[in-house]
Amino acid sequence: MYRYIFLVLAASVFLWGINEARGTSSKYTQGEEKELLTIAHRGASGYAPENTFASFDKAIRMKAGYIEFDIQRSRDGKLVVIHDPSVDRTTNGRGPVSGKSLKELQELDAGSWFSEEFSNEKIPSFEELLNRYAGKVNLLIELKNPAVYPGIEEETADMLKKYHLDRQPKDAVIVQSFDKRSVKNFHKIMPSVSTGVLVKFRPLGIPGWQLKEIARYADFVNPNKGLMNEQLVKQIHRLGMKTIPYTANDRETVSYLQSIGVDGMISNYPDYILELSNKRNEK
Ligand code: G3P
Ligand code: CA
Repeated sequence: MYRYIFLVLAASVFLWGINEARGTSSKYTQGEEKELLTIAHRGASGYAPENTFASFDKAIRMKAGYIEFDIQRSRDGKLVVIHDPSVDRTTNGRGPVSGKSLKELQELDAGSWFSEEFSNEKIPSFEELLNRYAGKVNLLIELKNPAVYPGIEEETADMLKKYHLDRQPKDAVIVQSFDKRSVKNFHKIMPSVSTGVLVKFRPLGIPGWQLKEIARYADFVNPNKGLMNEQLVKQIHRLGMKTIPYTANDRETVSYLQSIGVDGMISNYPDYILELSNKRNEK
């Protein structure tokens, strides 16, 4: 009898150990306890030019759990990391991203518009980004205007596979878009990688039927912060999804979003989110 009890106890301790190991298997979980996912929006873009290595490195130095970035495609078919459809705002060049080759894009100065000290920053290719950061930080990848780039879902999946990011712990890589069809398509191609649907502000909020539909292929619903309230968070959670709204760029918003139970948030100032977690840890 005692032998039986001992065996049951030993088996339970063993299984608990496995579960614990699974729960903490991501090298990139943040902080000491379950806390908000801290996502650096286009890198720590409050401190360095968005979507450049300078802003991603800064985010990592700040200990953000994730870097968020946008991908599009160059004229010669390479995936590149840039937000706007044109290079005008964030470089010294002009014209659409899709009208330039990777070489032409990378000849541009992608940092001086922010500050002279960043004049050496370039537009990274998606591959360069993965080369530098895969395995070092979690990734929130936005497919920007994917309808303009047919096949971008397959190309993204292929690249993730090349860097073994298709078999990471859950949510270590999340692929998101405002384009639901594209998210659905990506999920079909690579179901092992988490997906998210971004939702722009709209006065009437997100109808329940739409959330239910999204839950069939997405793990996250990531609305504009203006849409967020406690009821929406609960609705999303009830459907088995998580939510990381964008973009919480002041401490008041960060604090409000935490109070309504979001799973994390996207910010140009990841330190604001981390400050909050640290405060909580001190209690
Ligand atoms: O990740 C959310 C956020 O990036 C979506 O908006 O315009 O900054 O790409 P945008
Ligand atoms: Ca984005």
